Amino acid sequence: MKEQVILYRHSKEDISRIIQDIFRNHPDQSKEKALYVYSMDLLQNRLEHISEVFPKSTIHAIAIKTNALPEVLQHIVSEGHGLEAASIEEVRLAIQAGCPSERIVFDSPAKTREEIEECDTLYKGMYLNVNSFQELKRLETSKDLRIGLRVNPLLDVGAPGIYNVSNSNSKFGIPIHLQDQIIQSAFSMNHICGLHVHAGSEIGNTDQHVEAIGRVYDIAETINAKQKGKIEFFDLGGGIPARMKEGIQPTLFGFVDALKKRCPKLFSDYQLITEYGRLVHAHNAFAIGRVEYVLDYYNPQIIITHLGANLFLREIYSATAPYHAIHILDENGKLKSNPEELYDIGGPLCFSGDFIGRKIQLNQADENNWIVVSDCGANTISMWSEHCSREKIKVIYHQSKKGNG
Ligand SMILES: Cc1ncc(COP(=O)(O)O)c(C=O)c1O
Repeated sequence: MKEQVILYRHSKEDISRIIQDIFRNHPDQSKEKALYVYSMDLLQNRLEHISEVFPKSTIHAIAIKTNALPEVLQHIVSEGHGLEAASIEEVRLAIQAGCPSERIVFDSPAKTREEIEECDTLYKGMYLNVNSFQELKRLETSKDLRIGLRVNPLLDVGAPGIYNVSNSNSKFGIPIHLQDQIIQSAFSMNHICGLHVHAGSEIGNTDQHVEAIGRVYDIAETINAKQKGKIEFFDLGGGIPARMKEGIQPTLFGFVDALKKRCPKLFSDYQLITEYGRLVHAHNAFAIGRVEYVLDYYNPQIIITHLGANLFLREIYSATAPYHAIHILDENGKLKSNPEELYDIGGPLCFSGDFIGRKIQLNQADENNWIVVSDCGANTISMWSEHCSREKIKVIYHQSKKGNG
């Protein structure tokens, strides 16, 4: 029955209703050029889901890089979860959000000696995943960190080009063909007590994803067969894709069942850690940008709005851009019903590639309407670009009284 659980996503009708509520209750917000609306209800829904599919003791260290809004981090921590930090600055953000160091996972591929010292001195009990043998040497004298070795499983898990970190020229993790050295070095230091694998982001092949984790699990089992309990924690990373086109977000039950089959002792013999990013955040936010005007002498016509590469850096600069549904609302936030036309949607930045959409069918657009971009909770505001020195988009945290999104 659990397979039937649907992970809730906002429809365009929900978005219209939320915007009308915001404008009604806070008329000043309707004067903004753009708004970023983050749903605390959907965040809660995703956190509850990952908690229900994994053992209770699992540390869910949500990736800060995916969404670093302080209120969001605080909520994650207040729910008893952890945070995954990709830089020392993110470690400090986690601390500021109230996260105990025993629930912080530090994963930067470029940790300096000073940063390691800071962690060892100030954040005792923190998890730190070592990226390479070179970095491991820097940890020889550390006393109070839980150290894991990141392993590159060298398996194609179907992640788009720039998010594929499991190939042979990846800068992340020790390649698994050095397995003998990995095992040797695990025994070379008492405080190495974990293994880590993050096989990629937006992973398209679940079987290969499970196999990638399985290969690293096999190493953990080999080490523990030699010395019982040596590998205490197993960090399986993130990488589960968020559905961006229409349709439901599949639950994690199928993935977890496959993991249990491939790695029978993973859920009983190890302190499990996950590092989800996109899955937790992608659906939780949408952005609206005011229509400034329409260049009607082109075909398609071009809408000029205030959402562009500042917020959608990945979408505009990457060849494998995440898809986002785009809609239009009238000035009060209502869905429009006038005839549809074909539009390109240009952002506010001064370079010609600043388009968030091309050839999009929308109800006729007028000045002061709103362009809505859905599913932008992940890797958008945390990647905010200061190009053209535009002020950062205003954030609104939305929580429905009923708690239903
Ligand atoms: C080490 C590590 N863990 C977790 C994540 C989060 O990944 P995702 O958003 O695909 O779940 C990333 C993303 O880049 C990562 O590099």
